Amino acid sequence: MKNSYSNIFSFNKKIQKKVINNLNNGAVVGLPTETVYGLGGNAYSKKAVQKIFRYKGRPASNPLIVHYCDSNKAIKDVKINENFKKLYKRFCPGPITFILKRKNNSKIRSIVCARLNTVAVRFPKHRIIRSILCQIDYPLAMPSANKSSSVSPVKAKDVAEEFKKKLKIIINGGVCKIGIESTVIDLTSAPKILRPGVISKKSIEKILGLKMKNNKKKKITSPGMMKKHYSPGIPIIINQKKYDGKSAFIYFGSKHKNKKNFYTLSKNANLNQAASNLYKIFRKIKKKGYKKIQIGKIPNKETGIAINDRIKRASKS
Ligand code: TXA
Ligand code: MG
Repeated sequence: MKNSYSNIFSFNKKIQKKVINNLNNGAVVGLPTETVYGLGGNAYSKKAVQKIFRYKGRPASNPLIVHYCDSNKAIKDVKINENFKKLYKRFCPGPITFILKRKNNSKIRSIVCARLNTVAVRFPKHRIIRSILCQIDYPLAMPSANKSSSVSPVKAKDVAEEFKKKLKIIINGGVCKIGIESTVIDLTSAPKILRPGVISKKSIEKILGLKMKNNKKKKITSPGMMKKHYSPGIPIIINQKKYDGKSAFIYFGSKHKNKKNFYTLSKNANLNQAASNLYKIFRKIKKKGYKKIQIGKIPNKETGIAINDRIKRASKS
């Protein structure tokens, strides 16, 4: 089937050149990663970064993640440490973001980091974003390609629907395998997780050989920790047991198989599969015109911790 969006392109050498030309000129482009689609622009260009904030309607106080091909490029901008080296070796490229101290001579525009003295850095794994990052001599500031506080896109079409014709280029890299955003870990002092993801606290602790405290600070340390976030725009109520007879009901497992209005995150009760289906199902339910979403209990372990984090934030109105 031919896609009906003239700004969605398949990836090849010719379009890669076009993407790089656009990025060199300060444009922002919709790009696939293994977690969710991003809205990428040159992190060294004020014009490009301002465009990202404007398109998303993102508050200037919410910093962006800076994406690199590898750590050799990142060390020009951030101070790395032993914990970083261990985690990088084990998990990168992959779905993890590190908060590190910014170097004084870093070329990253200060608006990228909301004027903090720290930078969020990530090394994505998806072959398309990597082939672009490894060809350019600046990193990409790249938030998820959705309007501020709504659901992250997991398909090129989701990005097109979100920004319409505003974006000249969206690269189709298929459906994002992971489907929720990267784990964010602060490494500027004792390591702590600011946003849970598929790379779990447990697996990080194993590599670092330490136990991390739960991030219970009242103060918002990562704006993705803002209460309302990842919202599909209709009320969501979580930890539900009883179906109300009219809402869409999201659950985990196969208990309500083939029942109308019931949507399973994973019929095999696999938490990674559930994460990859979460935003897809949010969008589907919204499109079908339901007025409300009920969500059953999701096991709060491994990737379930990240899923519960997202649905809890989505449920705040
Ligand atoms: O998987 C991902 O991380 C995706 C893909 C596109 O790479 N990106 C993404 O970006 O989720 P965004 O902008 O939607 O979320 C970035 C998160 C926000 O919660 C932001 O507050 C936090 O990272 N962050 C960025 N810089 C930070 C910093 N210096 N200190 C603390 N948190 C920071
Ligand atoms: Mg986001």
